[in-house]
Amino acid sequence: MLYSTVSVRIFNSALSINIMFLRSSVFVASLVATTAAQMEARENAPQCCEKLLSSASPAVEPFLALLGVTIPTPPVDLGVCCKPISVSGCDSNCTGGIAVTCATVPISVVGVDIGVDCTPIPPCNPACNTLSISTSQLFGSNAGDAFNDLTTFVGNGTVTTDNVPSIKAITFRYGSVIDGLGVTYVQGTGQDLTTISHGTSLTNTEAGLMNSTVTLGTNETITAVSGQTGNHSPYGVRVLQLSLTISNSFTGASRMAGPFGSATGAAFTVAGNGTLVALGGSAVNTNLSLNSLHGARGGLYGLSFITTNGTDCPR
Ligand SMILES: *[C@@H]1O[C@H](CO)[C@@H](O)[C@H](O)[C@H]1NC(C)=O
Ligand SMILES: *[C@@H]1O[C@H](CO)[C@@H](O)[C@H](O)[C@H]1NC(C)=O
Ligand SMILES: *[C@@H]1O[C@H](CO)[C@@H](O)[C@H](O)[C@H]1NC(C)=O
Ligand SMILES: *[C@@H]1O[C@H](CO)[C@@H](O)[C@H](O)[C@H]1NC(C)=O
Ligand SMILES: *[C@@H]1O[C@H](CO)[C@@H](O)[C@H](O)[C@H]1NC(C)=O
Ligand SMILES: *[C@@H]1O[C@H](CO)[C@@H](O)[C@H](O)[C@H]1NC(C)=O
Ligand SMILES: *[C@@H]1O[C@H](CO)[C@@H](O)[C@H](O)[C@H]1NC(C)=O
Repeated sequence: MLYSTVSVRIFNSALSINIMFLRSSVFVASLVATTAAQMEARENAPQCCEKLLSSASPAVEPFLALLGVTIPTPPVDLGVCCKPISVSGCDSNCTGGIAVTCATVPISVVGVDIGVDCTPIPPCNPACNTLSISTSQLFGSNAGDAFNDLTTFVGNGTVTTDNVPSIKAITFRYGSVIDGLGVTYVQGTGQDLTTISHGTSLTNTEAGLMNSTVTLGTNETITAVSGQTGNHSPYGVRVLQLSLTISNSFTGASRMAGPFGSATGAAFTVAGNGTLVALGGSAVNTNLSLNSLHGARGGLYGLSFITTNGTDCPR
């Protein structure tokens, strides 16, 4: 029996091992036999390796030759210091290493496990729940204070399926024009209702100021909004009328709500970009109707419609 002590500085200064090495055909034969048996059992089991090195690397070739392993053509990646890991979904317990699968189970060379023909496990794509959002132009006037109900819920952050608001109801306060409205939202998969009111309040009890609430049922969303805008003396430029198209994603049925308001001006329609998730616009909150304001600043001035057409994921 021939023993030789080989000092192999493997691959770089970070890893230097001394190998007490039995060089004999018996050793190589048993190594190959063990490896073949292990391969049957655990081929492609995920491993966590400290590093990956090409078998063609000048530091590696002599080492393989020493082991009596034929230099692979084309070269393959060797994993160094590999340990089995458990992989579950996007998570593994390979911290600080490279998660791989190898064509062979790691060969133990004096305590250093070397995987042959190792391929990194591709990182998981992050959950793709980012929504694509469009905001329509402002219909009406910007003479009030700007509001955006979407940013009230999500700030300036990314809009996702987890934080996107959805509309559960809209209450319209109106006569000849829309004086104000209140939108009831639920955020994400939550249950809590939040009503945000714009312009003339929902609690105003003046005779002649209509109060109509449109409530969305399960699986219903607003898929189109149409209306009229224009200068309606003495109120100035306002949103004069609004109608909603409500669609049921389960039954495919559609229904109309409105029109609310009766004055006429320029017609508009916002449709075709998915579902309405929030309103933006311009308003001054008040407890008075436009009629009672006598020209003072107040009420709803303009609306923009914020829609989503679903996730914006790479296909
Ligand atoms: C990862 O977890 C598995 C199963 O619990 C365990 O066998 C393995 O040793 C762990 N590997 C590391 C690198 O922690
Ligand atoms: C849909 O959204 C796109 C991108 O925001 C916008 O350019 C387009 O005008 C919108 N279409 C409609 C009908 O609102
Ligand atoms: C959003 O960004 C604008 C300017 O980019 C900033 O003025 C505003 O405070 C931000 N709003 C929130 C809720 O972070
Ligand atoms: C108008 O309707 C809303 C929603 O149903 C309600 O909260 C509010 O009290 C009503 N206002 C009046 C004056 O009836
Ligand atoms: C809503 O849609 C889901 C499928 O997306 C369906 O299972 C459920 O029965 C629907 N609910 C109603 C009340 O229509
Ligand atoms: C409306 O009236 C209520 C009760 O008087 C008051 O608390 C609230 O501040 C008023 N809102 C506005 C916008 O003036
Ligand atoms: C959603 O809107 C974006 C931006 O307007 C557009 O690129 C994309 O094609 C739309 N997706 C669908 C399914 O309409």
